[in-house]
Amino acid sequence: MKRLSILSAIAVLLSSLMPGIASARSTPAQDLAAFQGYFQTRFPGVPLKDYAQGEWIPGIAGADALAQYRSVMQFPPQSLAIGKGKQLFDTPFPNGHHYADCFPHGGIGIRQDYPRFDPATGQVVSLAVAVNQCRRDNGLKPLAWKRGPLADILAYMASTSVGKPMQIATPNTPAALAAYARGKAFFYARIGRLNLSCADCHMVHSGQRLRAQLISPALGMPNGFPVYRAKWGGLGTLDRRFIGCNKKIRAKPFKPQSVRYRDLAYFLSYMSNGLPITGPAYRN
Ligand code: HEC
Repeated sequence: MKRLSILSAIAVLLSSLMPGIASARSTPAQDLAAFQGYFQTRFPGVPLKDYAQGEWIPGIAGADALAQYRSVMQFPPQSLAIGKGKQLFDTPFPNGHHYADCFPHGGIGIRQDYPRFDPATGQVVSLAVAVNQCRRDNGLKPLAWKRGPLADILAYMASTSVGKPMQIATPNTPAALAAYARGKAFFYARIGRLNLSCADCHMVHSGQRLRAQLISPALGMPNGFPVYRAKWGGLGTLDRRFIGCNKKIRAKPFKPQSVRYRDLAYFLSYMSNGLPITGPAYRN
């Protein structure tokens, strides 16, 4: 009896450190329900699909911001990148093969299935990694991860999947569950000189402001990527943002597409299952 109550006290403590998570040991499906439930309680009345709008969620973003967003969307700056990405995607490699040959369904309408766990390599494969693997398989050098042609290609691929619900397969092997658990631990770990976790800002303080910026909810976060960001004057990938947020809290960032960031994206994308793909989205 005594031991049980100590255990349950520990479980309560853990779940209070990990908002929106049933416990450190809960299954991915339990985590998903708790995570989405957390936001539904925090922002009652906001439909789940709207969380895929990042900083432009009606009911969370301010009216001025939404008006500004609607005016930018009359000529969406990301549409140029989609065109560039399509051209790159359709151009044959010197050996005559195409990007399309490397992917299911010719790479069209598949964004919602990534990142996925690859049992053969025991690693999480993001769409970015799959594109660069395709290049390597065809004797070409990989593209840089954070911006440029790779981001353009990802933008085009995302655009062919807009509206499809994110559908990351539920991790169900020990290796996939381990990758998922590492991503989850990263999301909830307090790190850096400011000793903050992703969850501290993007769950507990979501919808609030950090200086002028709205802290967007973690739910639906990956769905809009890559994004065209006004501050960057161009496209950036999810990793570019991870690095920015690690620096914000004075934590040493990891390399783009490192195992750490891929595991993190795997966890965050699984938590966003069921919400539509909105990328390439626009951000301030
Ligand atoms: C100190 C608070 C803080 C912490 C901690 C933090 N972020 Fe952020 N993050 C922000 C702010 C502010 C923005 C810019 C506004 C926005 O888009 O949310 C942002 C933006 C982002 C974006 C872009 C969202 C979009 O839709 O464009 C991503 C992705 C992101 N953060 C991920 C993370 C991850 C992953 C972690 C943990 C490694 C993290 N952040 C930690 C404050 C934080």
